[in-house]
Amino acid sequence: MNDVLVVHGGTPLHGKTRVRGAKNLVSKAMVAALLGDSPSRLFNVPAISDVEIVRGLMELHGVRVTDGADGEMVLDPTDAGEADADEINVHAGSSRIPILLCGPLLHRLGHAFIPDLGGCNIGGRPIDFHLKALREFGAIVDKTASGMEITAPNGLHGTKLSLPYPSVGATEQILLTAVRAEGVTELSNAAIEPEIIDLICVLQKMGAIIKVHTDRVIEIEGVKRLGGYVHRPIPDRIEAASWAAAALATKGDVFVEGARQADMMTFLNTYLSVGGAFEVDDAPVGGGIRFWHPGGELRAVALETDVHPGFMTDWQQPMVVALTQARGLSIVHETVYERRLGYTKALNSMGATIQTYRECLGGTPCRFGRRNFMHSAVIAGPSKLHAADLVIPDLRAGFSHLIAALAAEGTSRVYGVNLINRGYEDFENKLAALGAHVERP
Ligand code: EPU
Repeated sequence: MNDVLVVHGGTPLHGKTRVRGAKNLVSKAMVAALLGDSPSRLFNVPAISDVEIVRGLMELHGVRVTDGADGEMVLDPTDAGEADADEINVHAGSSRIPILLCGPLLHRLGHAFIPDLGGCNIGGRPIDFHLKALREFGAIVDKTASGMEITAPNGLHGTKLSLPYPSVGATEQILLTAVRAEGVTELSNAAIEPEIIDLICVLQKMGAIIKVHTDRVIEIEGVKRLGGYVHRPIPDRIEAASWAAAALATKGDVFVEGARQADMMTFLNTYLSVGGAFEVDDAPVGGGIRFWHPGGELRAVALETDVHPGFMTDWQQPMVVALTQARGLSIVHETVYERRLGYTKALNSMGATIQTYRECLGGTPCRFGRRNFMHSAVIAGPSKLHAADLVIPDLRAGFSHLIAALAAEGTSRVYGVNLINRGYEDFENKLAALGAHVERP
């Protein structure tokens, strides 16, 4: 029963909250520390379970991880070494981060063991781009019953690569491998998300030579050794957008300390089109973005998720909850993950009117068109949401269930709520501080 949250909805969220370093950068920066020969220091690390999992993985590999005040973390790789395959398997659990340890472990130990990967259930989540790239660097991948053994008997060598799709993870894989491979690597069709650019900043601080060209081309000149880094991560723009959508859906007013305009431009455009209001406070300390519902009716929009600089796939679910409150027909075309609209059934059970389609609606045809993936949605609004019992399917959809429960009249029970700790620090206390009526049964 301790995985259930009771939400008494119908109260607008009001007040101030804050976001810390981006989950999807922090976890990768922690892995990068394994490439250095001296300690690395990260600031503003969020206390979330995904960070705990990566920390455990680092510790299993002999990295000493210590915490300082207010989110400071020091990772000392001096004694890094072998880890027990069974322990890695047990520890990695549902995380997908272990795949990114390949390059650093190959450089450090000459081999790597990667357990079968988990992660949110939002699509097939294959790792074919990762494995193909590793092989092109000269690695040999052996699949075993419990995972993958990866070796590089002749070392890792720079190469010319092109990704079939600008995958965030595969781009990170290539960066983390190329920085210490012999010679130059040229990657085309790379992901260029702000978290990728921030990882490049981390690696450059360690001594890597990386050029980001236009048109998604990244060139990496391998170096023999890397040192540690000191880094303050970019803020979590997914969490910031989640609070922004919650403010809109509940007719509230939330200041998100730490949110940064430059990383959220596409989101902010949509926010304005829907009828939300925002105000940027650029103060270096205590600055952030205030998001609120200015009154009146919200407007329906057509939006399409895409790789950066498009509308992030992780912004889609919270925004759809807000769109249930907009007048007219909104269209959402999800082009990054093929199965990221399943959660809309739960919203319909609360009174929303959302129809999903196999066709590519409202945008350019994508990889998923005519392939039996329900990856487009039409949302008819405004709908009066009512309470329901909800089961959280994955991280982002899970937070959206919470937003819907907060916006709905009545008392909802949200099951599986602990999953939200993977990406949202201290979310229950944050909700309570914003005036939400939530409690454990
Ligand atoms: N893909 C392949 N083959 C591969 C790798 C990816 O086909 O080898 C496909 C995927 O199936 C997907 C698309 O490429 O359809 C994009 O996947 P990508 O590799 O970009 O995603 P990821 O690296 O696994 C990260 C974030 C996700 C975020 C995506 C897109 C982390 C830990 N995860 O995933 O965040 O949605 O990029 O921006 O950084 C989350 O935070 O909740 C989350 C799911």
